[in-house]
Amino acid sequence: MATTTLKTPRHVAIIMDGNGRWARERGLPRSEGHRAGAESVRRVVEACHEFGVKYLTLYAFSTENWARPVSEVRALMRLLKDFLEERTADLHRYHIRLQAIGEIERLPAGVRRKLSEAMAATAAYRKGTLTLALSYGSRAELTRAARCLAERVREGRLRPDQITEAALERCLYTAGQPDPDLVIRTANERRLSNFLLWQASYAELWVTPVCWPDFTREHFLEALQDYSRRVRHFGGLDDAAS
Ligand code: IPE
Ligand code: IPE
Ligand code: MG
Repeated sequence: MATTTLKTPRHVAIIMDGNGRWARERGLPRSEGHRAGAESVRRVVEACHEFGVKYLTLYAFSTENWARPVSEVRALMRLLKDFLEERTADLHRYHIRLQAIGEIERLPAGVRRKLSEAMAATAAYRKGTLTLALSYGSRAELTRAARCLAERVREGRLRPDQITEAALERCLYTAGQPDPDLVIRTANERRLSNFLLWQASYAELWVTPVCWPDFTREHFLEALQDYSRRVRHFGGLDDAAS
């Protein structure tokens, strides 16, 4: 299929899974799987630029991932820091702004510093938006939003009947971003694992058995082509039926 005929999703979100399995299959430590996964991030950022996907959100570390062994968490944070140092060149090349969602305050100081430097340096770019979900969990995000709305009501700045979907959305980490159109999950898992539960309400899902470190431009294109053939209803009827 020619890529020019693609109905391109505006926002793709990816649950990058299977780094550990990829490493185990090769007799390598799990951290090597995470390292190889960082290369896939580079490829996918490039592919978004190539295919005109404006928003890319990557689930890099979940709230629940803090429960992993300290050594693995440490390796992931180290890789994240390296990524933020080394990959900002691509963001400048493609004019992509970097954003982050999640409990950023829980990240180590060194990572937080690199993150804010990279976000500040790319804040003016508008060709694309790369959002890293870091220490992110939807339940924590929604709980935080509920708390923020309750505070406003308590302070008399908001009436309970003004708690609308839009008002709640403004309290989410993703405020101002379009909802994901397509959610990709690698390594053959078919679950959301606490990722963008509110935002992905009507997202199309695409899963692949490929582990994240093996995920290439071609797999990404395959997902886009599949998305392109889907008919979305949002609860209504498509044109042919109505
Ligand atoms: C995804 O790979 C990366 C993170 C969750 C940080 P995993 O580390 O979950 O890999 P598997 O699922 O154990 O193969
Ligand atoms: C989801 O993967 C989180 C990330 C990709 C960052 P997990 O490997 O943590 O998810 P579960 O535990 O298999 O649901
Ligand atoms: Mg996993």
